[in-house]
Amino acid sequence: MLIETHSAGGLDRVPDRLPRVVGADLKVPLVTGRRVPYANLDYAASTPCLTEVHRAVDRLLPWYSSVHRGAGFPSQTSTRTYERARDAVRRFVGAAPDATVLFTRNTTDALNLVGRALPEGTTVFRFATDHHAALLPWRGSRVCGLGVPAGPADAVRLLAKALGDAPQGPKLVVISGASNVTGELWPVAELAEVAAGHGARTVLDAAQLAAHRPMDVAGWGVDWVALSGHKMYAPFGSGALVGAADWLADAAPYLAGGGATARVTEVADQASVTWAGLPHRHEAGSPNLVGAHAMAVACDTLTTAGWDAITGHEQALAARLREGLARIPGIRILRLWDDERPGLGVVSFSIARIGDDTADQRLVASALSAEHGIGIRDGAFCAHPAVRALLAEAGGHDPDRALRASIGLGTTAEHIDRLLVALQDLVRHGPRWTYGPPADGWAPVPDPRTLPEFLH
Ligand code: ALA
Repeated sequence: MLIETHSAGGLDRVPDRLPRVVGADLKVPLVTGRRVPYANLDYAASTPCLTEVHRAVDRLLPWYSSVHRGAGFPSQTSTRTYERARDAVRRFVGAAPDATVLFTRNTTDALNLVGRALPEGTTVFRFATDHHAALLPWRGSRVCGLGVPAGPADAVRLLAKALGDAPQGPKLVVISGASNVTGELWPVAELAEVAAGHGARTVLDAAQLAAHRPMDVAGWGVDWVALSGHKMYAPFGSGALVGAADWLADAAPYLAGGGATARVTEVADQASVTWAGLPHRHEAGSPNLVGAHAMAVACDTLTTAGWDAITGHEQALAARLREGLARIPGIRILRLWDDERPGLGVVSFSIARIGDDTADQRLVASALSAEHGIGIRDGAFCAHPAVRALLAEAGGHDPDRALRASIGLGTTAEHIDRLLVALQDLVRHGPRWTYGPPADGWAPVPDPRTLPEFLH
């Protein structure tokens, strides 16, 4: 063994009390012809489906029918299932009992919906370190960039200063629950308190936070929260926006179409429309019943498993990952702050050299997959300004690309150790296979791996 991995201390298997994920036993092909269990270290991008969610979707499918549109018994069952899903999501985020729950496609969609519902003249405040979903949906509004804070307290200070200097009019503060690059936790309640003190509203991007820490948006004083099913073990194309009705009720419908209307008349080739109220106003088109139900079941399953169990498992593995990476020469871990508080199990890093060559981060990710059956992410993780700022500070040799390993409910110590051993070997010797031209990323040459049979 090239790197000393310490005893797994019970982390060699997923604890019995934690929910299981679909595909935990998945085997993937290596370029050598072997098949090995997949080491999924890419939970920050997309989580696998919980087995509970899978079972619940299977049970629903025979009853699947139109939501809000049919008199048949399955239709009524589907409508009831869809409406009940709102309650589960509302409870899960800790919103007030009267909070509106809108189903969307994902967090990006939910934040764009908020962007379209801003009252005239709103100023939006957001940090440069946010995910693109939180950075970009404010194009029609005045945006006040808050830069890269030096720490959680500095984030609160920067916001207070900017709000103090802000022009009159409505204000919206965008808060990230946790960084999808570094896993660091943001001071959500403190930022929301400062915002409220200046009469500003807040929207929380909880995409990364939702499946990893309990949420209490009412207690935190947050006005809206956006989250994604595919980052909380319910990858069926659904997300949600939960929060205050006022701005949403006053806004023009996000999409124009069936379901969002109360009455439509045709007068001399002109349609005259009375739009529906919330929540239907912003849910035009046939709703994603399966996605909403999957999210609801994931919410209940995570809550039942208990946050101590979930965070205990993730934090122990994240510590093992961080300590192991720190021992490998030439690896720099990217962090926004010196804050020692444990964050989520999301660790970005860059590698200086592999073998005798300057490291191309894409080649590292390809070799980990092709030679070791490990999935991590390379690139800038839909948070380009954050990754660039972190790489500039860390002196990373590629200014635009990093690597990211991330942990979730199916992760074991063996996955972490396999990554650490593979990275150590790559750093010392370079790849053991040949890889061809980096135009679209590095691909193994030859690549004897075959896609699963359903793609043949
Ligand atoms: N936002 C996703 C990520 O962090 C896709 O990878």
